[in-house]
Amino acid sequence: MDRIKVAVMGCTGLVGQQFVRMLHNHPFFTIHALTSSARSAGKKYGETLSWAVEGEIPEPMRELVILETSVESILKTGARIVFSALPASIAEKIESILRGYGLFIFSNASAHRFDEDVPILIPEINSDHLEIVKRQLARTKGFIITNSNCSTSGLAMMLKPLEPFGIQSAIVTTFQSISGAGRRGLSAMDIASNVIPFIKNEEEKIETESRKILGKFDGLKIVNRDMIINASCCRVPVREGHLMGLVIEFEKDVDVRTVENALSLFRGVPQEKRLPTAPEFPIVVRHEEDRPQPVLDIYAGSPERARGMAVTVGRIRKKGRLLNLFLLVHNTIRGAAGTCILNAELALMKRFIRADQTATGGGQE
Ligand SMILES: NC(=O)c1ccc[n+]([C@@H]2O[C@H](COP(=O)([O-])OP(=O)(O)OC[C@H]3O[C@@H](n4cnc5c(N)ncnc54)[C@H](OP(=O)(O)O)[C@@H]3O)[C@@H](O)[C@H]2O)c1
Repeated sequence: MDRIKVAVMGCTGLVGQQFVRMLHNHPFFTIHALTSSARSAGKKYGETLSWAVEGEIPEPMRELVILETSVESILKTGARIVFSALPASIAEKIESILRGYGLFIFSNASAHRFDEDVPILIPEINSDHLEIVKRQLARTKGFIITNSNCSTSGLAMMLKPLEPFGIQSAIVTTFQSISGAGRRGLSAMDIASNVIPFIKNEEEKIETESRKILGKFDGLKIVNRDMIINASCCRVPVREGHLMGLVIEFEKDVDVRTVENALSLFRGVPQEKRLPTAPEFPIVVRHEEDRPQPVLDIYAGSPERARGMAVTVGRIRKKGRLLNLFLLVHNTIRGAAGTCILNAELALMKRFIRADQTATGGGQE
């Protein structure tokens, strides 16, 4: 199969950099364009960048000249798929216009997450929600698929395998790393030796997105899951990885061993279909008394391409119908770029994208 040309919008940011790292030597996709704001446009990727993710800048990307993000610049490159790591306010319009030209947009931005015909896709959890993009394709030439907020991805991954035991409520407290706020997010003066018990809009995103992700697709629309989800969010001075304390209230008693088995044996469509970015086990259960920890566990997941795609859980304790645990998610991999790439792999595998299609002009919405 010829590899499909893709563009990465927001390539200089933390999520954009993860895209560049994870798409290097990808079996299905090849980067043809990188875009940013006017600040970095016109410079070579290897020259302008302060690289902040694992490893080195992939050699072929160093010489690529960054384009200013615009509809015209993306269309000129012939890219079929666009991975978006733009701020939501910028993403909203350009993602819609590019969709109108027949491009397939996989976005980390929150702008379209609650559009009726746009899924918030986490393929292990709700691969059937992909079907809803047919509603977009009925009225325009391309589609937009979003993935969730970074913390939501870890929480939803925990709740899905435990749903059969009857969940009444989930109360979550997050300890979120500074990389969650982006490349220029927080000053050292604010976060060094500190904990900030507020992240704008984060608690609302966790609560509402989880209900949509865990919702049922009835053939026409996604019906939100009716569940109490109550989130409190903190920013902590950790570089990468969001740790979360979770208390789940079940309808009846469930023993710890049953929960551990349900989590560690959990598999989804990406595992069955052996998608390249799918971790063999999406959830890793740790039994030590002091795990998971960001420093030790954020790169959970194998094979190599899926490092950082597994969510780690530990300290599973039961108090009657309440179950306590800690989970850890890599915010810019499983919580952002990695799931976005997995979504594109799923869409290709399910033939929502065909490698031989070409973009069509003049399709503005
Ligand atoms: N960080 C996370 O853990 C995480 C997790 C899930 C989702 N997300 C979402 O993913 C997106 C990217 O997050 P991030 O953390 O990578 O942010 P970031 O580090 O601040 O990067 C933002 C990117 O967008 C570009 N950009 C900013 N303003 C622009 C404009 N007016 N026009 C065109 N490009 C512009 C920046 O280019 P310049 O360098 O040229 O300014 C940069 O490439 C956001 O929507 C965020 O909410 C982030």
